[in-house]
Amino acid sequence: MPCSQADYSFLRQLLSSRSDNIVDPSRNDLFDARLYRVARSRGMNGLDDLVARLKMSSDPLLTQEVVEAMTINETSFFRDRSPFDLLKDKLLPSLIENRSQQQTLRLWSAACSTGQEAYSLAMLLRQHFPQLAQWKIEIVGTDINAEMVRRARSGRFQRMEVNRGLPARFLLQYFVRDEEEWKAIPELRSMCSFHQRNLSHAFPVLEKYDGILMRNVLFYFSEATRRLILRRMHSALCADGFLLLGASEQAGLHDLWQPVVDGSACYYKPRI
Ligand SMILES: C[S@@+](CC[C@H](N)C(=O)[O-])C[C@H]1O[C@@H](n2cnc3c(N)ncnc32)[C@H](O)[C@@H]1O
Repeated sequence: MPCSQADYSFLRQLLSSRSDNIVDPSRNDLFDARLYRVARSRGMNGLDDLVARLKMSSDPLLTQEVVEAMTINETSFFRDRSPFDLLKDKLLPSLIENRSQQQTLRLWSAACSTGQEAYSLAMLLRQHFPQLAQWKIEIVGTDINAEMVRRARSGRFQRMEVNRGLPARFLLQYFVRDEEEWKAIPELRSMCSFHQRNLSHAFPVLEKYDGILMRNVLFYFSEATRRLILRRMHSALCADGFLLLGASEQAGLHDLWQPVVDGSACYYKPRI
């Protein structure tokens, strides 16, 4: 049973305070669709019971479950293709040239969901840049959703997932079949690490990144949160690094980010 407007407001407020994700009042149905299962799995009758429980007691696990159930984790290997062509043909060759002395490369897949983007980067590097075999390569994936991070870490993907965007030759070269799943080979997994992080919380960055992919997540935040996150990303990126956003996202903040359009892809250079 749908809950009252006051209960939807409570849920909106809860979500915004924990993940900064915004749900427009016209999309209250998203709460119904995503939280009914959470309520039932805890033996409650519906959303109104769930909201009553959330209001009554502070249950961090239930709150976390609600926040995670509201995240949209859509992703795929080599998503949107053109950013990966841009990485292969332009962004990575230039970085690799600049890092030829240090022989290190640090890339961040921010809001990585189940990890396909991070593993796509690892495959791209292995496939097209064999000269990096002795380099220290770190591909760091982060997401607010603990279950997504756990799945990304496992390196295991279902048939439906490997059928989306992964060329057949990459599947055979970089994954081994394990019953109904495909598991990334150790060589790929050793290049990637995954951590639970909330993008809207301040995050200490001890070592800057050479490239950041933060795609298809900004539109869940308010304008103020987007700006805050983009400022922090600027501090987390090397001066010659790049930022890639989703196809329908823009950085704005022209004092900090210079957009560069390249064919059908766009990336951002940090202004110093
Ligand atoms: C649509 S997916 C995008 C996945 C991947 N970046 C891509 O483009 O394919 C959005 C991801 O953002 C994550 N997310 C939402 N709010 C977040 C936050 N505040 N901090 C970190 N991750 C967040 C969600 O858990 C979800 O996995």
